[in-house]
Amino acid sequence: MSQTLQAVRGMNDILPDEAEFWELFEDTIRSWLKAYGYRPIRLPIVEPTPLFKRAIGEVTDIVEKEMYSFIDSLNGEPLTLRPEGTAGCVRAVIQHNLIARQPQRLYYIGQMYRHERPQKGRYRQFHQVGVEALGYAGPDIDAEMILMSARLWADLGLDGIELQLNSLGQPEERAQHRAALISYFEEHAELLDEDGKRRLYTNPLRILDTKNPALQELCAAAPKLIDYLGAESLAHFEGVQRVLRDAGVPFTINPRLVRGLDYYNLTVFEWVTDRLGAQGTVCAGGRYDGLVGQLGGKPAPACGFAMGIERLIALISDAGGAPAAPAPDVYVVHQGDAASRLAFRVAEGLRDQGISVLLHCGGGSFKSQMKKADGSGATFAVIIGDDEAATGEAQLKPLREEGAAQLKLKVDDLAEAIIGQLIDSDEEE
Ligand code: HAM
Repeated sequence: MSQTLQAVRGMNDILPDEAEFWELFEDTIRSWLKAYGYRPIRLPIVEPTPLFKRAIGEVTDIVEKEMYSFIDSLNGEPLTLRPEGTAGCVRAVIQHNLIARQPQRLYYIGQMYRHERPQKGRYRQFHQVGVEALGYAGPDIDAEMILMSARLWADLGLDGIELQLNSLGQPEERAQHRAALISYFEEHAELLDEDGKRRLYTNPLRILDTKNPALQELCAAAPKLIDYLGAESLAHFEGVQRVLRDAGVPFTINPRLVRGLDYYNLTVFEWVTDRLGAQGTVCAGGRYDGLVGQLGGKPAPACGFAMGIERLIALISDAGGAPAAPAPDVYVVHQGDAASRLAFRVAEGLRDQGISVLLHCGGGSFKSQMKKADGSGATFAVIIGDDEAATGEAQLKPLREEGAAQLKLKVDDLAEAIIGQLIDSDEEE
């Protein structure tokens, strides 16, 4: 016997019970984004590999070891499954000249791919809601993005998500800080562990991220980037904080927040929870003023963030917020040739009136069909046998009210009766 095939490790099927909830979640997301003036953009899942190398940076975990890259066997082009959405979005904005006349607020929802070690909250195929504002230079848009994410947590009924904030300054300020960091660690080279020694000249900032307890004191006393920021960078950072303070959104400044993608400058932020184990960042982003120019466009400031949908859905479910799957209003039970033909007409007629209908398919006795009607969660069963079909009638049976009477009605009167009773029961609730 042939072996059954399985999905690729770290790439999950989202089955109907869960997928229904994803759709509700996405509805909330779309109306939230609309309320802030964001417009959808739909982008390819595959992009030329050099796009990600240039945008995310050659010396990053994503580009060095996590990309699904391959050569198009038909034309030899190096391609990559997108590991994130910002690069493709900026590529599209440049290609279609979208910000020539006015700035743009854009969003996308979709799959991303990273070859990471799968664990709870970390997958190889995952989904992001990405939000990008291009052509805006001031700290107001950075702050608005943070406020809008705070509102989303409230809309979704989530609490315990904390905001961490930092400023990465401008590239020249970072270069000065980096030089100071290297000479500081050189002076204390005898205290560095193997990792630290290896990173000293390639990525000294990453030494600050170390989990090694022996290095904590050394790292705590290391030169801080904030001390290398000039007046303009500091004013931008202060501008963001002022809006947050005015709006009463609490935050922690985390000088170690450096982000894993190279395109950021000035504001960076992450929303973090301790309810998801090791993968606690549900939303992250920041300003990337250099990227449009770096990818060949006319330089333009920009800012954005992305949320991990799997992580947010897990949080909502843990908080007991996953709603039950929606049940149909009506389940149509039928038996016999004439009854089946009438059942189709009845089902379509009810749908014309906005009633949701599950038409029984696959035959079976009345008894077994009634069991399915009950199990579907429908409010009513509409029952049609050949007797009813002969007179153009149907039985309307309320399924959720104990002792409620079953009515025999002309099929043309069904919709009115159903709508009337649905309204009555809504009012009672
Ligand atoms: P990122 O921090 O790489 O940023 O990813 C954003 C979010 O995607 C993370 O905070 C997390 O919730 C989710 N995520 C990332 N990797 C995984 C994974 N392997 N499994 C599940 N969820 C994951 C970006 O991607 C930037 N493009 C964000 C951005 C937009 N910056 C500016 N604009």
